[in-house]
Amino acid sequence: MFRTRRLRKTAAIRRLVKETSLSVDDFIYPLFIEEGHNIETEIASMSGIKRFSLDRISKELDEVVALKIPAVLLFGIPSNKDNEGTETWNENGIMQKSIRFIKQNYPDLYVITDVCFCEYTSHGHCGIIHENDVDNDATLVNIAKQVISHAKAGVDMVAPSGMMDGTIEMVRQSLDNSGFSDLPIMAYSVKYASAFYGPFRDAADSAPTFGDRKTYQMDPANREEGLRKATFDDEEGADILMVKPALSYLDIIRDLKNNFDRPIACYNVSGEYAMIKAAAEKGWIDGEKVMMESLLSMKRAGADIIITYFAKEAARILNK
Ligand code: PBG
Repeated sequence: MFRTRRLRKTAAIRRLVKETSLSVDDFIYPLFIEEGHNIETEIASMSGIKRFSLDRISKELDEVVALKIPAVLLFGIPSNKDNEGTETWNENGIMQKSIRFIKQNYPDLYVITDVCFCEYTSHGHCGIIHENDVDNDATLVNIAKQVISHAKAGVDMVAPSGMMDGTIEMVRQSLDNSGFSDLPIMAYSVKYASAFYGPFRDAADSAPTFGDRKTYQMDPANREEGLRKATFDDEEGADILMVKPALSYLDIIRDLKNNFDRPIACYNVSGEYAMIKAAAEKGWIDGEKVMMESLLSMKRAGADIIITYFAKEAARILNK
């Protein structure tokens, strides 16, 4: 008889046959930085996660560095929004100031920026609106401006998240033509129109004021399309391909891992975080164990990199 239990008998043999392990090296920690002074606001739906103004963020960055988390992913929350999100390429905008501040004070911390418009537009959509929808090609022009301004501020990597077609080609060409050919791109390649972003939209003040994002983000029903989209990003020159959200899309993570010779990232999004936190606070699950198990499942599915609000908590456990 096959006896698979032989290799589960003791902790030592279980360690020897373990196929997947998590490491703090896998994590990117998202940070919400708000324009203004003396801000440190808990996000109600994301227990433990805060919005900081730059003058209050050092404590958070000290912790990230002490925990040996290699990278942060920045989201800016500006004071001024307009129709196009012009603040995204202001050289004294919140993102640009944050990049400079972090690179000056924490030179070894790897800084990635989320390149999008939804936090910066008065309508909350991820680009320029034309006839009630986001205009793809007009938005690409502004993406290039935003990316170049992040590059000039000293960012280490850019992560365009708006799901406009042709983004990676546009970003690669603009960077190359401006002397930033060494700057890598992490593509939000397979990003679904997901209800799991709810808490983030409170956190980043980025919910659309009309309609939804279904004309640019992907239908959760589609798998083949994800491969097609990732193929375009791969050919256009993305350095890392990302799947978002993570937990409901582990099959997509595996598809990308099997099909592309690139590092694969996944984004363990706000709603996934909030569900675990809420159930743990109610005492209905063991929050730490469920956190570690779900992060492990992303790794097992094929993610090389995990963007997660759990990064600090998980690092504390892994560093022990
Ligand atoms: C911006 C963006 C979103 C998230 C990351 N970048 C929101 C959205 O697409 O509506 C979601 C992250 C999360 O839920 O944790 N486009």
